[in-house]
Amino acid sequence: MVEVHRRHLLQGAAVLSVGLGAEMAAQPALAGILPGPADLAPRQRIRFDEDWRFAFGHASDVNRDFGFGAYQYTHAKQGLSGVTAAEPDYDDSTWRQVSLPHDWAVELPFVNNDTYTLPAPDKRREYEEDEAAAHGYKPVGRKYPETSIGWYRKVLRLEKGDEQKRLTLEFDGVFRDSIVILNGYILNRHESGYTPFEVDISNFINTDDKPNILLVRVDASYGEGWFYEGAGIYRHVWLVKTARTYVPQWGTFIKSDISGAVDIETRIVNGTDTAKTVTLVSTISDADGKVVARLETPVELAAQDEQTANQTTKLASPRLWGLKDPHLYSVRTEIMESGAVVDVFASTFGIREVVFKVDGFFLNGEAMKIKGTNNHQDHAGVGSAIPDGLHVWRLQQLKEMGSNAYRSSHNPATPEVLEACDRLGILVLDENRLMTSAPEGMYELEALIRRGRNHPSIILWSIGNEEPQQGTERGAKIARDMRRLIKKLDPTRPVTAAMNNGQGFGITESLDVLGVNYYVTRLGPVREKYPNLPVVGTETASTLCTRGEYERSETKLYVPAYDVTAPKWGHTAENWWPLYDKTPNLLGGFVWTGFDYRGEPTPFNWWPSVTSHFGIMDLCGFPKDNFWYYQAWWSDKPVLHLFPHWNWEPGKDVSVWVHSNCEAVELFVNGKSQGRKDVAKDYHLEWTVPFVPGKITAYGYRGGKVTMKAERVTAGGAAKVVLTSERVDDIAVLKAEVFDKAGVAVPKADNLIFFDVEGPAEVIGVGNGNPTSHEPDKALYRKAFNGLAQAIVQVKGTGSVTITARSEGLISGRVVLKA
Ligand code: GAL
Repeated sequence: MVEVHRRHLLQGAAVLSVGLGAEMAAQPALAGILPGPADLAPRQRIRFDEDWRFAFGHASDVNRDFGFGAYQYTHAKQGLSGVTAAEPDYDDSTWRQVSLPHDWAVELPFVNNDTYTLPAPDKRREYEEDEAAAHGYKPVGRKYPETSIGWYRKVLRLEKGDEQKRLTLEFDGVFRDSIVILNGYILNRHESGYTPFEVDISNFINTDDKPNILLVRVDASYGEGWFYEGAGIYRHVWLVKTARTYVPQWGTFIKSDISGAVDIETRIVNGTDTAKTVTLVSTISDADGKVVARLETPVELAAQDEQTANQTTKLASPRLWGLKDPHLYSVRTEIMESGAVVDVFASTFGIREVVFKVDGFFLNGEAMKIKGTNNHQDHAGVGSAIPDGLHVWRLQQLKEMGSNAYRSSHNPATPEVLEACDRLGILVLDENRLMTSAPEGMYELEALIRRGRNHPSIILWSIGNEEPQQGTERGAKIARDMRRLIKKLDPTRPVTAAMNNGQGFGITESLDVLGVNYYVTRLGPVREKYPNLPVVGTETASTLCTRGEYERSETKLYVPAYDVTAPKWGHTAENWWPLYDKTPNLLGGFVWTGFDYRGEPTPFNWWPSVTSHFGIMDLCGFPKDNFWYYQAWWSDKPVLHLFPHWNWEPGKDVSVWVHSNCEAVELFVNGKSQGRKDVAKDYHLEWTVPFVPGKITAYGYRGGKVTMKAERVTAGGAAKVVLTSERVDDIAVLKAEVFDKAGVAVPKADNLIFFDVEGPAEVIGVGNGNPTSHEPDKALYRKAFNGLAQAIVQVKGTGSVTITARSEGLISGRVVLKA
């Protein structure tokens, strides 16, 4: 049987287009990045992270699916869904207690669910693609009916007077195909695993003393991508209570320019049967809380009516949003009725100017290259259910590396990622999952834009990635409709798409900025046809590295961490960045990827490999050596990074590399110079030296003087675990590192480390970045991989927390987290 894989389909699309006549060618933790709850009284926005119960249903056996669909009348009579768990007296004590965000896929064991037989090594294609590998070998999908349906149950506690209000549930993201049932009423079905949605529950709450039973049935039988996607309610859920006259979800759109002109568009809904005139008051404050404008506008509302009001002002000396000073203004929207505030709504915005020209990208007039990374939402220990603090921590690692941009591939980002990018000063390319003008795709596109358009960090909307129709006339029709919708909802931002083929044809005409994935050699036709079209590398590089490994292993499935391996469609760091850096009409790009992610375990797309090797950092966010390549050439920091470790068989020729932005570097082995070399911009330095135990030392020179020193010392046996912590809000990211008794990191240490917690905190996941590890993510222990292991700890209360990292025969490491 012929195996058809995604990459073949894409290549097939290229061939098809030709046939149709187209031509192809370690840092201190930052707390408080995300805002605390604003005082929005009388509106209430309550985060629903706690007190959920979870149980598996069943995709084919109705009796194991709590009666859902057991009788054909599940949908026939409203409120009589027949779902047993919807009953108020249903005993859910056997269901697990879970908190959000929650990803049940990451909790499941790895399963070699291949029906696919790996060809013999000599018959294997260079980058074999196996469907099960693509999703990271978790038992989720049609073949796993017993672990692909998840039910969430929660008893809603409402207050007296709530029946007078408008009550909605806002779901930020559920993977996927979710059905929301309240008190037996099926209220909503939402397919997309990546777009937010809102459910109005006002009419369905119990107004007597009966409890309100909320159920969410989540069906992850089908995937939406070709990478690990998680399963469950993996983003936040909110209960929002407002008056019946209110600002709806994402109800403001704030446009501004660097002259200080601000235009606020506010939607106001009168959900009552009485016509009324309200006063819309918008108060703009700067980041210090100083009020810089107050706008008051009367708005007439008929009964059951919605109006959009526009207010404009000009701020005297606007403080701009930029990468170094990501200044945000806030808008407090108040709806006043007869002198009383009936609703309050909070928004933030930033004033900045983004300009794409064919030969330059400018932020507030400053020319800069886009130094970005692509990322899926996935981290060690937690899968797609990344807590807010960990999102911030991940973005901080990227920023620390010198990266200034983030592509949310290939789906809309989580709101907290957008908020953190606003606050940290990171540019965002926010991407739609489906490139289609069919209703579902347009609905998802609308949610992407409405949800994101106040974020100053977002600089580009992407309508999709490497779609088969990209170079075709059909693609052109689809893209035209998608563009039209974007421009209607947000005329301020350019539209892009990531194309790996057909550039210059099909969807190209609908793009303000062309995104090119890998194949810069295919740009000929598009440059000729659209000479003024700016080009950004939406996917670049793709260096394959395993952290701490310096030799390829076909048995362990590791690739060396030198910048030497790339898939046939990709490039090493040094093969893309120097080109983009010096070519004015390549405006910069997004490396595939910032972090390793589960699935697509390229270049070993087969069992037992479960995680990609693309990341500049591994799945835990531990940097691979290329991290310092980018830091040297992307950031202003002085960098001198010497590798590999210095534990080899005596006499072995070892390739010693340095990533540095010094002017010259001299290498010494046990005090003996191996020569001084000048650094060429955007390139590494390299020496080959026979291994002798002891140490290697690199001295970095600037202006003829030694300004930096780096050393690698031969390590002895493992003697102790050193535990360190980086904290963002309630999340502590712990690093356990194995050292010898002299304090030298033991490069190959794989000791089993236990994490003991005392105090109000919990280990919510562990990892080590090993792409072939099948150890559980949900555990209180983990083997080190090449000397490192990680625990993600969530602090759940006040009082100090002590965490001990203990390993047999080693001195323990300990950290104390302050309340
Ligand atoms: C690209 C694709 C990415 C990822 C990458 C792996 O073609 O857009 O999602 O699959 O290849 O190299």
